[in-house]
Amino acid sequence: MFKLVFKQYKCKSTSPDLTEVVKIDDCVVKGNDQEKSDNNIVQRLSISNVESLQTMPGVKSPKDWRTYTLTNHPGIIVIRNPFSERGRRYWSARCLRDFPRTPNIVNLNERLFDESVRSDWWKQLNLCSDGVEFQRIKSAMRWTTFGYHHNWDTKIYDEEMQSPFPEDLSSLCGLFAQALGYADFKPEAAIVNYYPVGSTLSGHTDHSEPNKSAPLFSFSFGQTAIFLIGGRSLEEKPTAIYLQSGDVMIMSGESRLCYHAVPRIIKTQASATLSLIIEDVDNADIKTRTIDKDLFHDVGNPQFWEPFSRYMDDSRININIRQVLNPGDVKL
Ligand code: SIN
Repeated sequence: MFKLVFKQYKCKSTSPDLTEVVKIDDCVVKGNDQEKSDNNIVQRLSISNVESLQTMPGVKSPKDWRTYTLTNHPGIIVIRNPFSERGRRYWSARCLRDFPRTPNIVNLNERLFDESVRSDWWKQLNLCSDGVEFQRIKSAMRWTTFGYHHNWDTKIYDEEMQSPFPEDLSSLCGLFAQALGYADFKPEAAIVNYYPVGSTLSGHTDHSEPNKSAPLFSFSFGQTAIFLIGGRSLEEKPTAIYLQSGDVMIMSGESRLCYHAVPRIIKTQASATLSLIIEDVDNADIKTRTIDKDLFHDVGNPQFWEPFSRYMDDSRININIRQVLNPGDVKL
C-alpha cells in the first residue's frame, strides 16, 4: 500500500490528485481566542513550559508556536513554521554555504566530481560559468552528513566517522527538544537533504541508530514537500501531509520507527529577495544561543541573499537530526 501511494504522488505523466494531502492550516479554524481542529486528523498540542523557554534569534517566541499532532499517527508532531523570514534565510544559507563542506561528507562521487567540487559544492556552483556543470551539481538530490556520519551502505554508525556538530544547530534542536519534554535529547547526527523540484526520497525507516527511542527532529526550508507517514509495515496506508517552509516535524514514540517518504516537491513559493528589516533580537538570546551573527545580519541584504534565493526558488532543504547513543553511553 505504501509503495502504491508513493507512486501516485510521484507520478510525472499526470498531475496527482492532491485532495487527500493534509494541509494543517486548512484543518484548523480560528475560534474566539483559540484555534480548534475542524476534523479529526489534526489536533492542537499545547506546550506547557513556554514561559520557561528561551528562544533564539530567528525563532518566534514559543508562546506563538502552533503545534499539532496527527491523530492517526501517534508520536508525529508538527510545529507550523516557528521561524521568522530572517530565521528561514539563515538556516537555508547555513545548509548551502557551510554544511556541505569538508570535513562533512557529501554524496558527490569522486569519479564524477573534482576535489574542489566535493569539498565545497556551493562555492563551485557560484563560480560555474558552465551551465552543464551547474546542472550536474544541482539537478540531482544531494545530501551531507555531520556529527556521526551515517554509512548508507552498511547502515552502521562508526565511532571513528564523525565531524563536528555545529553549535547553532545543536541549540536550535535543543530548544524544540526542551519544549516538547525531551530535555535530555542529544543531537549527535545530522543528514541534510537537498531536493530539487522533481526529486524524491523513497520509503524507508530510520533504524541505524543504537538509540531508537529518542525522537527525530526534521526542519524543512524552501519549497513544499508531500511527506508520507505510514506504519511499521509497508502494508499500512500512509497519510500524506504537506511540509512547508519553516515547518518542524518530530517523529517520536510510536512513529519513530515508521515508514516515511517524500514522493514529490511542489513549487509553492516565488523567490523573495526583498531586504529585511533588522529583526528585534533580544541580546540575551544572542548571548545564550550561538549563532553566526554576521550571517544572521547578512541574509537580510538582497545582494547577499540573491544566490541563495535563486537556489531555493526550485529546491527544498530538509535537516534531519538524530540522537545516536543510548543514555549513559559515551561511545558507540
Ligand atoms: C528523511 O527521512 O531522511 C528526510 C525526510 C524529509 O525530507 O522530510
